[in-house]
Amino acid sequence: MNWHIEQELNDKNIQQELINSANIPNHIAIIMDGNGRWAEEKGLSRSKGHKEGLESVRDIVKASSTLGVKYLTLYAFSIENWKRPFAEVEVLMSLLEIYLKNEVDELHKNKVRIKTIGKFNSLPKTVQKLLLSAVEKTKNNTGLTLTLALSYGARWDIVRAVQLIALDVRRGNLSPEDINEGNFSQYLSTKDIPDPDLMIRTSGEFRLSNFLLWEVAYGEIYVSNLLFPQFRRNDLYEAIKSYSSRERRFGKTSAQIKNEKKSIENDSYIKKVFNAIKSI
Ligand code: IPE
Ligand code: IPE
Ligand code: MG
Repeated sequence: MNWHIEQELNDKNIQQELINSANIPNHIAIIMDGNGRWAEEKGLSRSKGHKEGLESVRDIVKASSTLGVKYLTLYAFSIENWKRPFAEVEVLMSLLEIYLKNEVDELHKNKVRIKTIGKFNSLPKTVQKLLLSAVEKTKNNTGLTLTLALSYGARWDIVRAVQLIALDVRRGNLSPEDINEGNFSQYLSTKDIPDPDLMIRTSGEFRLSNFLLWEVAYGEIYVSNLLFPQFRRNDLYEAIKSYSSRERRFGKTSAQIKNEKKSIENDSYIKKVFNAIKSI
């Protein structure tokens, strides 16, 4: 199904208003937390919480895509989550399998490019196979880039990057004094993805739980009190509104940021006038 065609008129209008009035983040990362609590509150098994969380994934992916978000990164399974009871890990892996089996065609039709970050080899072979074929099938798509963080840990990724750098130094391809922030980030598994602009965490927890520690250095953080299965597109829009109302200073003063904005606006005004004169 084409998501633009199935989209409700009311939602289309809300998205259009958001595009007109807010700054849409280029990259949104989400720590999808609270599936277990959602289920426990209802007297259900934790698996039911994960299943309902998958419904939120579907809704958020569609909404991000039709809204024109370029990158969405979902923290689906952390490297520390392997420490959970075996039965719960099994449920999570089988849900992942179901998602990849059932949804890749629809994602592909809607131009979504699928990527994955994390300790790939530690995933079950069936999941690895499905992921590889999903990534391959969608690699030339130009719509939303959906990155699934699976068996992912930022510290694991940073240590791995250091190992790769050490190897390059040993081979004589790199000298230690040439290592900088720019080339360091090229050794991370997120090398092809821009840094997140907005990092959302659900279920009211104020921590990063080992997610994108390097990349989120200047990302805006938004914590929602909703449990992930309750978090749907309208809640995403609220997060974007909050993001849009903030001033990102990157270490500079507020006055500097305002001046930069003014000069960009002036430049684009001058360009417009210049083009108008040229076309006469
Ligand atoms: C998030 O929900 C899903 C994963 C970590 C895989 P949780 O399972 O952590 O839910 P809570 O935090 O126990 O409620
Ligand atoms: C973070 O949630 C990991 C994912 C959402 C995949 P957790 O539930 O594992 O985080 P902690 O243990 O509460 O920090
Ligand atoms: Mg949790």
